[in-house]
Amino acid sequence: MKLLVTGGAGFIGTNFIRTVFDKKPGWEVVNLDLLTYAGNPRNLLDIESEHPDRYRFVQGDIKDSELLHNLFKTEKFEAVVHFAAESHVDRSIYGPGAFIETNIVGTYQLLEAARSYWESSSERPNFKFLHVSTDEVYGSLGPEGYFKETTPYDPSSPYSASKAGSDHLAKAYYRTYGFPAVITNCSNNYGPYQFPEKLIPLMILNIQEEKPLPVYGDGKNVRDWLFVRDHCDALLTVLTEGQNGETYNIGGGEEMRNIDVVNLLCSLLDAKLGRQGETSSSRLIHFVKDRPGHDRRYAIDSTKIRSELGWTPQHDFKTALAKTVDWYFENQDWVESIRTGEYLKWIDQNYDERA
Ligand code: NAD
Ligand code: DAU
Repeated sequence: MKLLVTGGAGFIGTNFIRTVFDKKPGWEVVNLDLLTYAGNPRNLLDIESEHPDRYRFVQGDIKDSELLHNLFKTEKFEAVVHFAAESHVDRSIYGPGAFIETNIVGTYQLLEAARSYWESSSERPNFKFLHVSTDEVYGSLGPEGYFKETTPYDPSSPYSASKAGSDHLAKAYYRTYGFPAVITNCSNNYGPYQFPEKLIPLMILNIQEEKPLPVYGDGKNVRDWLFVRDHCDALLTVLTEGQNGETYNIGGGEEMRNIDVVNLLCSLLDAKLGRQGETSSSRLIHFVKDRPGHDRRYAIDSTKIRSELGWTPQHDFKTALAKTVDWYFENQDWVESIRTGEYLKWIDQNYDERA
């Protein structure tokens, strides 16, 4: 199997490529990534040096039609796993333009290049385009119910609206051209290599440095957490077993309120740092201005992928969260390498205005 992975230098893409190299001997990967602030070229240096015959990195933009057409022509991919995106809701509120460009226009250019290759290729029967998307396209749940594959789209942020647009394009290419696209909509991931603008790594780093822990609104928004390697296993399953034109919801079934996640992180880190009582990290919690359009609750019904494709998550939240905390402790070099000027600018902009 020869794969094109887009956005493979980001959080989930990195973990996915590592999963492929752990579980699929013989598979080849070309990783196309623009290396925006969220892409870290160091993430896969070991794979690059250990498997020069099976792994290649290409720095490039999914909006670059010529680059894409040439890549398909020369590499003759058998499948595409499309992660590349602008992925942070708060950034989409400050600047929606990049989200429209990358997530909608970029996905369109990628679909066009893949379709053109697929239409002219003798590999046609085996080709597959896996579009990796989010549960945020379904909008917000009340206290009851779950997102099913049939739940109507109702996105709240420019990020989720742009992902919804890209999902619709992938589905339209299947219906119109018979193009072999399959879509996954997954809940919140956590684990190694996540950029510390997202809740869990941001809190881990702030607790370590005794900085304020900014909890939006009342802290009672609920997310359904899934360890990233479980998501990657689900994606491999959909890639090999999923039906073209279908959507598969992926979730951990581990619903938590944000404030409970933050308190759990405080206690995990207190145990490591020897803090207790008055020095306990929970003293750093600050309730700050809420995110506009903040979805109240996400919860996935993953019956379809479990019953039709036999996938189940292998990690529970508390154990894998502790493993994640350990990873950030053990990889301080990685943390320092992404503390760029751009990162610090974002932290200043977002959190000064919320305080
Ligand atoms: P990320 O922000 O960590 O990584 C995105 C990657 O895409 C980066 O390496 C970046 O350099 C690259 N990229 C951005 N624009 C590009 C462009 N124009 N051309 C090529 N590469 C580009 O994101 P993530 O959290 O790893 O998410 C990956 C995908 O999974 C996204 O599509 C996201 O919507 C989806 N998703 C994420 C989650 C989650 O919890 N993080 C959950 C469900 C779905
Ligand atoms: O559900 C899948 C989605 O999960 C993905 O599509 C997105 O790419 C990913 O970023 C994530 O979106 P969220 O908005 O849910 O994740 P985030 O980590 O930004 O926030 C999680 C919750 O924590 C959310 O309710 C907002 C809150 N939050 C976040 C930050 C960064 C805080 O209270 N304080 C913070 O500083």
